[in-house]
Amino acid sequence: MILITGGAGYIGAHVALELLARNEDVLILDNLCNSQRSAIERISTLAGQRPGFIQGDVRNRRLLDTLLRDYPIDAVVHCAGLKAVGESVHEPLRYYDNNVGGSLTLCQAMAQAGVFTLVFSSSATVYGDCCTMPINESCATGQPTNPYGMSKLMAENIMQSVASSDPRWSIGLLRYFNPIGAHPSGLLGEAPLNMPNNLLPFLLQVASGQREYLSVFGNDYPTADGTGVRDYIHIVDLAQGHLCALDALRERSGVNIWNLGTGRGYSVLELVKSFEQVSGVPIALQFKARRPGDVTCCWADPQKAADELGWRASRSLQDMLTDAWRWQCSQLETEWIREAN
Ligand code: NAD
Ligand code: WQD
Repeated sequence: MILITGGAGYIGAHVALELLARNEDVLILDNLCNSQRSAIERISTLAGQRPGFIQGDVRNRRLLDTLLRDYPIDAVVHCAGLKAVGESVHEPLRYYDNNVGGSLTLCQAMAQAGVFTLVFSSSATVYGDCCTMPINESCATGQPTNPYGMSKLMAENIMQSVASSDPRWSIGLLRYFNPIGAHPSGLLGEAPLNMPNNLLPFLLQVASGQREYLSVFGNDYPTADGTGVRDYIHIVDLAQGHLCALDALRERSGVNIWNLGTGRGYSVLELVKSFEQVSGVPIALQFKARRPGDVTCCWADPQKAADELGWRASRSLQDMLTDAWRWQCSQLETEWIREAN
C-alpha cells in the first residue's frame, strides 16, 4: 500500500488516480488546509474504486505511528506542504513548520516503522538562479529567494542526511518544473482556494470572466519576447513520473534526484497565445514590473529521468491548456448549477 500525504491536493490527487489505475492500494492523508473532501469523491469516480482517506496532519507523529502500524504501507509519496511563494515571505514560520517539520516528522515515523521508501515533492526552485540551461540534476542547488524554496531545500537536506545514516533508505527527490493542466476528464484539476499566484490558474480566471486582466510580470527579460520562460509540464505526465520513481526505488538505495520537466521552455506570451488559440477566448494583458525573486528562464534537462526511470513527458502545451480550460469550464458549470438550486 502507498501512503500519499497531501493526496487531496492538485498533484497528490493525480498521483492517487494513476496508482489506483494500476491497482495499487492507496491511503491518502490530508488535513484539507488547501483542498476539499470532494477531491476524494472525484478520484473515486474516475478510478472506479475508493482510496483510503484519513483527514489529519503529517506533523501529527502519533497519527503517523498509528497509520504505519495499522496499514500495510510499504512506500510513501510525500506531497503535503504549503506552496504559495508570496505567502511564505509573510509567514515564514508557518512554512518552515509545515514543510520542514512535516518532512522531519514523517521521516522519523517511517524510520521507526521500518518503511524506507519515500518519494518527495521537491521543486526546481531549489536550483535558485541557475544560469546554465537546461538544468540538470548535477547543477548545484542555489540560494532560494524565499522561505518556501528554502523549506524545500531544507527538507531535501534532511532526506539526504537520513539516507546517508542508514542504507535501508531509498528516496526519490522529484524536482518538479511548472506543473499545469488537469485530468482530461475535466473532473480533477487545480482549485486554488485563494487568489492564484501562478500564471495558468490566474489566466484561467481571466478567461472565465472572474478577473479583468492578466498582469505580465516583466517584458524586459533577455528572452525572445522579453517575458519569462518556464518548463510547463502536464499534471498527468508529472503524476506518472511518480509511479516510475516508485518502481525505480525498489531497485535502488540512497537518494536519487530526478527532474520532472519536459525539457522545453515557453514564454509567458507564448503560453497566452497558445491558450487563446485552443480556447478561442482573448486574454486582456497588462504589462507590469518584474515580480521580485523571479528568474529569467528555467527549463529542465529531463534526460536522467528518461535514462533511469524510462519516463518522458509526452503531452504538449496545447494538451495542457485544452485540459486546463475543460476543467475550468466544468468547475464553472458546477458552480452555476449549485447557485441555480
Ligand atoms: P496543493 O496545495 O494542491 O496540495 C497540497 C496538499 O497538502 C493539500 O491538499 C493540503 O491540504 C495538504 N497539506 C498541506 N499541509 C499539510 C499537512 N501539514 N498535513 C496534511 N496535509 C497537508 O499543492 P500541490 O500543487 O498539489 O503541491 C503538492 C506538493 O508539490 C507540495 O509539497 C508543493 O510544495 C510541491 N510542488 C508543487 C508545485 C506546483 O507548482 N504545484 C511545484 C513544485 C513543487
Ligand atoms: C510563471 C511565469 C512569472 C503570474 C512557482 C514557484 C515554484 C513552483 C511553481 C511551487 C513567470 C509569470 C505569473 C502572473 C505572470 N511552485 N507570471 N503573471 O514562478 O515559475 O514558479 O510555481 O511549488 O517554486 O516559484 O511559476 O506560474 O508563478 O510564473 O506574468 O500573474 O509567469 O513572472 O515568468 P514560477 P508562476
